[in-house]
Amino acid sequence: MSGSVNITVDGKQVAVPAGLNLIEAARYAGKSVPHYCYHPRLSVAGNCRICLVEIQGQGKLQIACNTRVTEGMSYFTDNDRVRKAREGVMELLLINHPLDCPICDQAGECKLQEYAVEHGSGITRYAFEKVRKPKNVSWGDKVVFDSERCILCTRCVRFLDEVAGTPEVGLDLRGEKCTLVVKGDGKLTSPYQMNIIDLCPVGALTSRDFRFKSRVWFMHFTDTVCTSCARGCNTVVGSRGDRVLRMVPRTNPDVNDSWMCDFGRLHYAFVNDETRLTLPRVAGKGAPYATALQRAKAILEGARGQGILAVASPFMTNEELFAMKELLDRLGVEDRFFLKPTGEGDDLLVHPEKCPNARGAALLGFAEAPAEWPSKEYGALLYFAPHEGADLPEEVLLRAKRRIVFSLKEREADVCFPLTTWIEKDGTVVSAGDRLQRLTKGISFEPTLVTERTVLDRLHASLDAAHRPPDTAAQAVARLAAAVPAFAGVTWQRIGPLGMKLEAAGAPA
Ligand code: SF4
Ligand code: SF4
Ligand code: FES
Repeated sequence: MSGSVNITVDGKQVAVPAGLNLIEAARYAGKSVPHYCYHPRLSVAGNCRICLVEIQGQGKLQIACNTRVTEGMSYFTDNDRVRKAREGVMELLLINHPLDCPICDQAGECKLQEYAVEHGSGITRYAFEKVRKPKNVSWGDKVVFDSERCILCTRCVRFLDEVAGTPEVGLDLRGEKCTLVVKGDGKLTSPYQMNIIDLCPVGALTSRDFRFKSRVWFMHFTDTVCTSCARGCNTVVGSRGDRVLRMVPRTNPDVNDSWMCDFGRLHYAFVNDETRLTLPRVAGKGAPYATALQRAKAILEGARGQGILAVASPFMTNEELFAMKELLDRLGVEDRFFLKPTGEGDDLLVHPEKCPNARGAALLGFAEAPAEWPSKEYGALLYFAPHEGADLPEEVLLRAKRRIVFSLKEREADVCFPLTTWIEKDGTVVSAGDRLQRLTKGISFEPTLVTERTVLDRLHASLDAAHRPPDTAAQAVARLAAAVPAFAGVTWQRIGPLGMKLEAAGAPA
């Protein structure tokens, strides 16, 4: 290994990259060193002392987070001395801790709980009154602080200072009275403030949105991607009973490090909206998919001589867009557009394109909606209505004799198919920097819902008996890769959970 050093961890010899700290280096030997204040993407604070290790030849135990490997170093992460020291650190951390796990949102994913079990003594020798500190302190409309649970690791302070660029939390008072305060009016302002909830290793910072909604052990977790802007931050969606309860970031150094913006994190209410369309509508009445497909087929066939306007959505996956392209090729449709919602971006993550796949739509031959729409009359409109951003102008809608619309909510149309959201399907999107990323299905909002790709493929098959649609997302990706040069060589497996650069796509538009 070039640029590596040879070390020994708990008697096991390993070569590790030079410059690593002893927590990261220990992983190469299959060892994990407990840590609270250390976070790989923040500066080192070295204040919690739970990461103590014994380095051969050094009298005192050292903190692993602030010590770098050197050639020939040998250290112990799990001998009697280290275990005894950790037990002492745990005892100190728990002296004034309220031990209110039964009413704490962090229970089940709390490092204090986990390390108390792994490294604590299981008993307390402290016979005095615990220090009481403020609980349920509002830090604004997103974050709630509990000072009694805080172990003063300063992860939250460092994140806001070093990553978000809004140094608005600091330490106040000393000793056992030490606590955190938000500067100014006591309310956080950062648009990235909710990352401190994920960073907090204990239950001192909780999300006002998620508090008391569910115990984490009752939830189902899905690795996917945020679709609220083109950045495509990698996320873990937590759901229960087929409803989304929260989103947290998933580490991807090539996209979002370990962070996401608050807007994306909280932007999921539309998924759980109980007034969503769950069955097609034909002429304003509920209808089974078979009836809606028959009617849609008749409309498209009837409109062939009069022209068809196709408007896709940049919220569609590449595979849905490709299924739409195949259908439009079959029908000889030339006017193919998509509507792109835009807004403000920033220097950290937020992208000005407020949709996940405008680039994919462009690569698949759809043009961005023109400032001036063609003034033609059409026999039919096939329209995927974006669930947010600008809608198709009324006069363009009215220019089509018949309308087939895909929408989250019922709309006036000859046929209205329900849309599914990003967490209800497997598929791919092209995020900023031409990064191809996977969406993964986590919930079925209603068992009646059929995804857009399936509806498009069924419609296509009803017009052309030779059309053989793919069954799975992996097959749909393979079909896309075989047909569209920008996606050449791509497979579902190659994209993987962290995505891949779409080299064949050429320069981003
Ligand atoms: S609130 Fe959490 S992250 Fe912040 S210092 Fe306290 S324990 Fe650490
Ligand atoms: S920056 Fe964009 S992709 Fe990332 S969490 Fe925010 S809205 Fe979602
Ligand atoms: S993790 Fe090393 S001192 Fe906190």
